[in-house]
Amino acid sequence: MRAVDIIEKKRDNLKLSDTEIEFLLNEYLTGNIPDYQMSAFLMGVYFNDMTKEELLKFTMVMRDSGDVIKFDEIDRFLVDKHSTGGVGDKVTVILSPILSALGMGNVKLSGKGLGHTGGTIDKFESIKGFKFSTTKEELVKIANKTGVGLMGYSDKIVPLDKKLYSLRDVTATVPSIPLIASSIMSKKLAIYSDVIILDVKVGDGAFMKDLEQAKKLAERMIEIGKGAGRKVKVVLSNMDEPLGHAIGNANEIIEAIEFLKGNGASDVKEVVYTITGLALKEKGEISELSEAKEKIDEVIKNGTALKILAEFIGESGGNKDLINDYGLLPKARYVMEIFSENEGYIKKIKTEEIGKAAMIIGAGRAKKEDEVDHAVGINIFRKVGEKIGKNEKIAEIYYNDDKNVNESKNMVIDAFVITSEKVEEPKAIFEIIE
Ligand code: URA
Repeated sequence: MRAVDIIEKKRDNLKLSDTEIEFLLNEYLTGNIPDYQMSAFLMGVYFNDMTKEELLKFTMVMRDSGDVIKFDEIDRFLVDKHSTGGVGDKVTVILSPILSALGMGNVKLSGKGLGHTGGTIDKFESIKGFKFSTTKEELVKIANKTGVGLMGYSDKIVPLDKKLYSLRDVTATVPSIPLIASSIMSKKLAIYSDVIILDVKVGDGAFMKDLEQAKKLAERMIEIGKGAGRKVKVVLSNMDEPLGHAIGNANEIIEAIEFLKGNGASDVKEVVYTITGLALKEKGEISELSEAKEKIDEVIKNGTALKILAEFIGESGGNKDLINDYGLLPKARYVMEIFSENEGYIKKIKTEEIGKAAMIIGAGRAKKEDEVDHAVGINIFRKVGEKIGKNEKIAEIYYNDDKNVNESKNMVIDAFVITSEKVEEPKAIFEIIE
C-alpha cells in the first residue's frame, strides 16, 4: 500500500477502505508517512469530506492511537460534558458538583485555554495548591469521594490528534467539519462514560460562527457516537456574548461558587439546567427536561452542590474554605472601571474581542507556552438586550501590569454594540439535538 494512492483516491472522491485508513494513520503516527503527504490528504478531506464509514474508521483509529480508559471502579452514572470552547465558560465548575449531588459523576478530560477562549484547567489552577489528577488512579480516588473526576489531557490519550492538529494548524485545514468531529470524538471515545453531552458553542466568540455549520458538526459527532455504540447529545449554545459575567480564571471560580449559592446569571443557568436535564433524562430519572429544575434547585438550596465543590477542591489540594472566603483566591492589584460611551440597548457584545481583551492582560494564552496570570480578568455588568445610559459602568478590568490595559479597555468599549432600537434578550441555547 502507498500513501500516494490513498491521497489520489481522496482527491478523486473515491471511497477509502478501512485498511487504507488504518495504514495511512498508523504509518503517519510512526513517522513512516511524512507531513507533506498527510497535509495533501487533509486538504483532500477539506474539499471532499468523508463518508460516514470513513469518518467512523478514521475516528476509531485515532482513538486507538493511545490509551482508552474505562472507569469500572466508579459506581455512578457517568457523564462526559464537553464544550467546544467559549468565553466565560465556567459550566464544568458548576455542573460537576450538581451532577454529583444528583447521584451522577462527571468524568472528563479538561483542557487549557488558548487564544481568546478559556480552559477549565486554568480556572481550577487559580486555586492555590490545586492539582489536577494526572493518572486514572488519582481521578478514580477523587471521583469515588466526590463524584467529580477531572483530569488533564495527557500525551497518552489520542497522541495522533496532537500530531494531526499541529499539522492542520499550519496547513489551513482546521475548519473542516469531519476533521473537527473526528478530533473531538476520538478524545471523547477514549474515556468511557454513559453519556457524552457536547456543548457546541455558536457565534462570534466560538469556533463555529454560524448555526448551520454548528448543526452539521453536531450531526457528524452524533453519527460517530452511534457508530461507536455511544450515546451523544448536543446542545447548540450562544457565544454571541460571553457566558455569565466573569471572563478570566479566579473571577470565574467566584462566579461559579456564587451560582451554587443561588446567584447564577440567567444564561449560565439555562446552559447548566439544560445539560443536567439531558443527563437526568438519559439516566432515566425524568422524562421531560423541565422536570430537572426542581431537582437542581433543591441541591443548590440545601447546599449539597456547593459542599461537593468544596470537597473536590480540598481533595485536589486546595483550601476548601475559599468557598466562603474569596480572599484565598489570587487578587489583581488594580481595577479599571469601564463606562459606556453611548446610551441605548446592547445589541451585541463582541465575544472574541472580550476574550482577547482578557487574554492580552494575561488571563489567557496567545501561544500554548504562555503563562496565565490567574488573578486578572474582566467582569461585565451588562448583557445583550439590556438598556443602558451614557456613562454607566459596563465592565471592570482586573490587572497586575498596565502594559496592555489601555488597549484592553478600548477593546471592551468597542465590544459593546449599542443601538437605539429595542433588543430582545437572546436565548442561551439555540437547539438540542439528541
Ligand atoms: N477542538 C478539538 O478538539 N479539535 C478540533 O479540531 C477543533 C476543536
